[in-house]
Amino acid sequence: MAILKVAKLGHPILRQVAAPIPPDQITGPDIQRLIADMFETMEEYGGVGLAAPQVHQSVRLLITEDIPDPEQEGEFLARRSVAINPEITFLTDEEVAFYEGCLSIPDFRGQVPRIRRIRVRGLDEKGRAFDREIEGFPAVVCQHEIDHLNGVIFLDRMRGLSTLAYQSEFDRFRAASAAGEPS
Ligand code: NI
Repeated sequence: MAILKVAKLGHPILRQVAAPIPPDQITGPDIQRLIADMFETMEEYGGVGLAAPQVHQSVRLLITEDIPDPEQEGEFLARRSVAINPEITFLTDEEVAFYEGCLSIPDFRGQVPRIRRIRVRGLDEKGRAFDREIEGFPAVVCQHEIDHLNGVIFLDRMRGLSTLAYQSEFDRFRAASAAGEPS
């Protein structure tokens, strides 16, 4: 396994629409190595999610980290997962807004409105189809990562820039009142 270099804002790959992965390639060595390296990279940099274009691979693959339940010790809102060729459906008009960060925009946080509850269909790391409904922060992480597959970053989704903050000032003034993790 290897820690991969993360593409930073301004790298053109972050603005490309990523290509689907042929299902018969998922269990092959290239995709399996990419998945393992992406998990190692996400752990190294402390992200809660990572999309393949962020590690210079323009393919429709994302990973998400375990997301602990802040209200129940030892419980999780979502467990770590892999989504390949994911398709998203919005299940409500209701929005939530978290302060998001991004490993490709490392020193900033900004509040982003997202849909509160979504359905995601795709293939897992073994090429098996999944179909799940997710809500709240895990749904936010998933929307953030799927955006990366379409060349969209969280700055594009902000309603304005008034909540944009350096990480250091976010930690000083906002962290106590707003959740958010780099992804
Ligand atoms: Ni990101």
